[in-house]
Order: sequence, then structure tokens, then C-alpha cells
Amino acid sequence: MEEQKKRMVTGDRPTGRLHIGHYFGSLKTRLEMQNSGKYDPYILIADVQALTDNFNNPEKVRNNVKEVVMDYLSVGIDPEKTTIYIQSMIPETAELTVFYSNLVTIARLERNPTVKTEIAQKKELFGESVTYGFLGYPVSQAADITVVDGAVVPVGEDQLPLIEQCREIVRKFNSIYGETLKEPEAILSEYKRIKGLDGNEKMGKSLGNAIYLADTEEEVSKKIMSAVTDPQRIKKDDLGHPDVCMVAYYHKLFSTKEEVECVCEECKAGKRGCVACKKQLAQNVNNFLSPIREKRKYYEEHPELVEKILKEGTEKTRQTAKQTMEKVKKAMKLDY
Ligand code: TRP
Repeated sequence: MEEQKKRMVTGDRPTGRLHIGHYFGSLKTRLEMQNSGKYDPYILIADVQALTDNFNNPEKVRNNVKEVVMDYLSVGIDPEKTTIYIQSMIPETAELTVFYSNLVTIARLERNPTVKTEIAQKKELFGESVTYGFLGYPVSQAADITVVDGAVVPVGEDQLPLIEQCREIVRKFNSIYGETLKEPEAILSEYKRIKGLDGNEKMGKSLGNAIYLADTEEEVSKKIMSAVTDPQRIKKDDLGHPDVCMVAYYHKLFSTKEEVECVCEECKAGKRGCVACKKQLAQNVNNFLSPIREKRKYYEEHPELVEKILKEGTEKTRQTAKQTMEKVKKAMKLDY
């Protein structure tokens, strides 16, 4: 039956621990896809890609590889169903990236909207001229996907241009060297990015406005206590505006429908204080995180298990990658 399942490929750059924004933005979709039984999921920890804009900070990337694996396992990514591996452990990906580099122009990379936005954000690191490696990361991402014969890639909107570029590379490859590779399809996540505790449109690792999956109960409570609420509401009996309050926003993600209605009605009527409201939210977020923390603790106490999961994931992925490279080299007349 395994053959009929669609191979799903996705991953994250290990530049920080994962937060609830990642949970709602991508982990939830991955869990649903994993548990549907319709896919054969591969999740890679993109350490090589993380280095493209952290080449001067290898420690950071190294340390976060472990954190991200723990985050995956603790939310329920199940190594029995999902193959988890580290990008740099698959050297075939690097080789394929070199082959692909002839099939993509510099102008096309410079036009990629995702890359363009990121370069603009990284002026401090890159100055006037971006590195070859960063400009080319869509090529290496195309190799990540196709080296394991990926059929579907679940993505947020910001990643769509990368999948489009991957499809172009595949088409070009097939048109020059003959039908060899599969064009992957993007599956757009139905969940949206969630806002930060400070009301910023994005909950971000570098923005200091995130609740991490590994945060303790105390950390969560403290962060929620400092979340941005309706600025016009000073006293409890002032009439509140839940639509501009981050606490109400998170209640919608973590509380029952009845609770949300009650919170909003009482706030609007000036009958509910922000402190009580925040305490209730902190309780609900902590209830949500409690089983995740427990699972993480288990894996933290069994590092040998995590190592085994990565080792097996790598071995399985390399088998597939080797098969792909055989086909690719044959098509390119490099099969000596
Ligand atoms: N670009 C992705 C990110 O920034 C990470 C990634 C690397 C990826 N390789 C991938 C995602 C392959 C999907 C498929 O999070």
C-alpha cells in the first residue's frame, strides 16, 4: 500500500525553537496529513539552508537542530509514520543542487518574490551584495524536494514562489534530459499565520513576541500577562473592544466557543477585567501545552531515542536519494 501514498516533503530552518505560530501555521497541517494515512511524509531539518543566512553563526544552527526535532516529536510527529532527517546528512541533495544550478538563471532567482523580500530584510548581513548561496537557496530547496521524489509540499503563502521555481527546474530538467523527475504540487495551508503577543502581524523568533512550545507554565503566564489589550480600556468598567485585544484573539485559538462568547460579551459590557481574562487564557494555553511538555520531557530524558530516530530517518532518505541520483546521472550522461 505504501506505493500509493503521496510522498509529502516539508521542513524548517533550525534558527530557533518552534512556537505556537508554527503550530497553527504548519505543524497542525503536517499532523493532519500524517494521521490521515494518505501521505508518506518526509520532514527535513534544513540546517544547510539555515546556514545561507547564518553562515557566521554555526553554533546557533547546530543547537537548534535538536530543539526543532524535540518540537516535532513533542507535538506528535510520529517517527513510525513520518521520516525525520537532517538536510546536511543527505549529500545527494548538495550534488543535485549543483546539477540544477545550470537550469536556473540569476535573473530568475533575483525575481523570486520570497528571496527578494528576504534579501531586503537582511541588508545588515549581506550589505550591497547577496551571497551566491543565499540567492541560490531556492535551487537547493528544489533539490530537497525532488531528491526524495516529493509529490506534495504543504506550504504557507510565503513559500509558494519556491515551489513554483522548483516546478520550473523540474520541467527544464525533463525537457533537456528526458522525463526523469516529478513536478511537485504545493498544498496551501488553510491555516493562517498567527499574530504576536504585541499585536505584530507575525509571531516571530526574532521579534520577542512568541509563546514557544517548550515554554514553562510560568513563562506562558508571564507572557500572556504582558500581552497587548485594548488601549482604550483603563478601568474594568470601561467598555472593551475585543477585536483589538490580543488576549481575545488568542482566546479564539485556545478556548471553547462558549468561553470566547462569554469573554467578548463581558469585555464589551465592562464586566470582565483584563487580569481575570488573561489568567483564564494562560490556563487554557497551559492545558494545551501540557501534553506537549510531557512528551518533550520524555525525549529529553532519552536522547538516544532521538538519535536513533534521526539515524533511521537519514538511512531511509539516503536510499531514496541514491535511487534518484542514479536516474538523474543516467539522464545527464554522468553514469560512469
Ligand atoms: N524554506 C523553508 C523555510 O524557510 C524550509 C525548507 C527547506 C523546506 N527545504 C524545504 C520546506 C523543502 C519545504 C520543502 O521554512
